[in-house]
Amino acid sequence: MRAPERMQQDMTPTGNDNATADNVTGSGSSAAGLAATLMPVGMEVNGMTVALSLDPRTTLLDAMREHLRLNGTKKGCDHGQCGACTVIVNGQRINSCLTLAVMHDGDAVTTIEGLGTVDDLHPMQAAFVKHDGYQCGYCTPGQICSAVSVLKEIAAGVPSHATADLTATPTVTRDEISERMSGNLCRCGAYSNIAEAMVEVAGAEA
Ligand code: FES
Ligand code: FES
Repeated sequence: MRAPERMQQDMTPTGNDNATADNVTGSGSSAAGLAATLMPVGMEVNGMTVALSLDPRTTLLDAMREHLRLNGTKKGCDHGQCGACTVIVNGQRINSCLTLAVMHDGDAVTTIEGLGTVDDLHPMQAAFVKHDGYQCGYCTPGQICSAVSVLKEIAAGVPSHATADLTATPTVTRDEISERMSGNLCRCGAYSNIAEAMVEVAGAEA
């Protein structure tokens, strides 16, 4: 939720790749060898075109946090268990810790910073504030990215394990929200208020 001008500044590649190589090898000449293995990755991040040169082992999560300084996306477990790293890629939510940045060359990525700004919150961000959908806030960026995508999935008719009738269009119910948000863990236990925020944004009775 940063001002656009700050985000623009953050889009500039940091040039930290050689520094990373130095840390690994402790030697300038070996670092030069490692630098030769870097791969170009172009993405549209929060509506802005970015060009990075990355170690192919870099996760999308680390590309966002360490290379683009978009620290809204959080690293919780770093192995697909908590959902704190959820971002939206080409319209679908994914765990950014489980995918390599080089796999997303040409993709459009939306992080929490791209959903809204402090002065112009996304409706889901505003609803989380209104309904106290967080306490410490660590899981919140992932929860909000997931929540935005969940409502789109339901509107698009994508069924979940909680959908009783696979021939009917799913609706926004507490069961659907619980099932679809089950990959986003909250140690503070704000689940009930998160669901209330989602219900309000959906304009549904649940
Ligand atoms: S940090 Fe990616 S799922 Fe936990
Ligand atoms: S608000 Fe603290 S972990 Fe969810």
